[in-house]
Amino acid sequence: MQKRQLGPCVTFFPQPTTLVSTVGIGGAFDVMTASWVSIVSKTPPTLTVSLNRGRLTYEQIRDTGCFVVNMVPAKLAGEADYCGLRSGRDRDKLAVSGLTPVKASRVAAPLIAECPLNVECRLLREVELGEYALVLGEILEIHAVEAAFGEDGGIDAGVFDPLVYLGGIREYWSLGDLAGIAYRDGKRFYAGEQGP
Ligand SMILES: Cc1cc2nc3c(=O)[nH]c(=O)nc-3n(C[C@H](O)[C@H](O)[C@H](O)COP(=O)(O)O)c2cc1C
Repeated sequence: MQKRQLGPCVTFFPQPTTLVSTVGIGGAFDVMTASWVSIVSKTPPTLTVSLNRGRLTYEQIRDTGCFVVNMVPAKLAGEADYCGLRSGRDRDKLAVSGLTPVKASRVAAPLIAECPLNVECRLLREVELGEYALVLGEILEIHAVEAAFGEDGGIDAGVFDPLVYLGGIREYWSLGDLAGIAYRDGKRFYAGEQGP
């Protein structure tokens, strides 16, 4: 496979498209698009989001100590893009986009009703990264759309239809077909292993 060196730039690892919803000291809600988001620990359940220090979202998380990460479905690509273009400092993005804030169960920041998965977080700590801050949140509660659960207890990922962001080339994609089962498909190589 022939490769081209790109240097140390922001390239297109596929990333989730999320909406981070927050509340300010005065009770005003804001919502911003974030793709530098990941679950980073199972025990304790921890999530991280990398935020530019100039974002209203960052200010509100520091002021009130909480946030919600909402998974964006593919059909909301336009709404999510809007929330990544404008700042809550000068626009009421919820009102303009039509997204609906609803009360969360453990934190003061709102859930976004139209998103199929909402993760309530308490600010744990942050790691300084130049212009950015890696904000670590303890996951306190998760709300997942009921329709995704089958009678056998399995989850149908298609119901979530998560919007994928390719940062380096600024494109949104939806998921393709199921490509495999984790912690199972790799086991076919066990037979060719040497040693214990
Ligand atoms: C697809 C997409 C992903 C983004 N991801 C991030 C991110 O992970 N971190 C960040 O600081 N800004 C990110 N942004 C930019 C913010 O969403 C944008 O600056 C927004 O206006 C900030 O809003 P706020 O000031 O109301 O918090 C992203 C924008 C888009 C369109």
